[in-house]
Amino acid sequence: MDRIDPLPGARVLLGVCGGIAAYKMASLTSALVQRGAIVDVIMTSEAEHFVGSLTFSSLTARPVYASLWDAPERIPHIRLVREAQVVLVAPATANIIAKLTHGIADDLLTTAILAARVPVLVAPAMNSAMYDNPATQANLATLRGRGYHFVDPERGFLAERESGVGRLASEERLIDAIVRTLKRRQSLAGKRVAITAGPTREAFDPIRFVSNASTGSTGIELAREASLRGADVTLLLGPTLLEPPSGVRVVRFTSAQELYEAALREAVGSDITIATAAVADWRPADRAESKLKKTDEDLTVQMVRNPDVLAALGERKGSTFLVGFAAETDEHEAHAREKLARKHLDAIVVNDVRDEHGFGTGVNTLTLLWGEDERNPLGTAAKSQLAVRLWDAIEDLMQCS
Ligand code: CTP
Repeated sequence: MDRIDPLPGARVLLGVCGGIAAYKMASLTSALVQRGAIVDVIMTSEAEHFVGSLTFSSLTARPVYASLWDAPERIPHIRLVREAQVVLVAPATANIIAKLTHGIADDLLTTAILAARVPVLVAPAMNSAMYDNPATQANLATLRGRGYHFVDPERGFLAERESGVGRLASEERLIDAIVRTLKRRQSLAGKRVAITAGPTREAFDPIRFVSNASTGSTGIELAREASLRGADVTLLLGPTLLEPPSGVRVVRFTSAQELYEAALREAVGSDITIATAAVADWRPADRAESKLKKTDEDLTVQMVRNPDVLAALGERKGSTFLVGFAAETDEHEAHAREKLARKHLDAIVVNDVRDEHGFGTGVNTLTLLWGEDERNPLGTAAKSQLAVRLWDAIEDLMQCS
């Protein structure tokens, strides 16, 4: 390995499950210990069929935990996760992934993870058919939504002597994921962050409204990432079925007017505000008290202007680092730069919504713009990944400004 990231004193809790790749965890443990990490190992009883606990206790010079009942102390699961800075579950079998999804706590490892308040990295490894199974994929999506991090499996030779996706991520990728998680852990500690996210609904009778296709996922991922970095996060969230991340204060809004009032209350005076909400620029001039009954006539709904929430925050900017989003279909950068100046922003993220990228998809293409003509293309990636890149870029910019 050419580049070694030292991990002096880093506390890693490694959960080893019963998959053939369990044997690789001995090498990983040794590599972590050589970097100076303090590694506690919990093995499931299935893992013990594949590799002996003596291997891990020899490598870590610490006791290895396998059962809730024969540990030297009464409640090791709580102590172990409290002392850890990061948890890695590897190889994560379909079984442990299903248990975590449903909150089942029937052994030491699942009990410990249920009590974890630190980032949990999950590195699945299993037969490709099991990995592709809709039940497994649904469980992975649920866990992702709840803030678990994944080190995705690779395509390659599997124990069944066939090739497919399901091979445990390489040791290098696992260590890299641990290093990145530990590094970003407290980079926003002490910062107050406000994020607007999701669509608005502008009603013209009790059940009908004008809205848009935003799901709020970009803002939710940014809130999750900021919270992981130790920020005190308030997420102003519009109507969406997506789950907000845990550990974040959520303030709900429905209409642009409600968002406007919430933003002036919650975001003014914050250290960093990011506006990802897809705010309707107009609302119906009137809202009928009861449901409009159908007639043979066409319906004309007159629309009036909504307040521009971000522009209002720009006018009250103070020392807040203010970041806007611009969803554009053409002349992306020119339109975005105009908004950057007009709304008194420190930076703006351009979001290409021309084709399938953008609203309602897991993937996006973003570019960060600031200053006269500065730009940082963040690339095309999953929104969770883009959140990491965007926060890295914002932190860099804040250090320079
Ligand atoms: N925004 C806002 N309040 C509005 C409209 C937009 O806070 N009423 C914010 C969005 O959250 C985003 C930025 O302003 O961060 C740009 O939004 P966008 O819809 O692209 O820009 P508009 O100003 O509405 O301009 P246009 O619709 O003409 O592109």
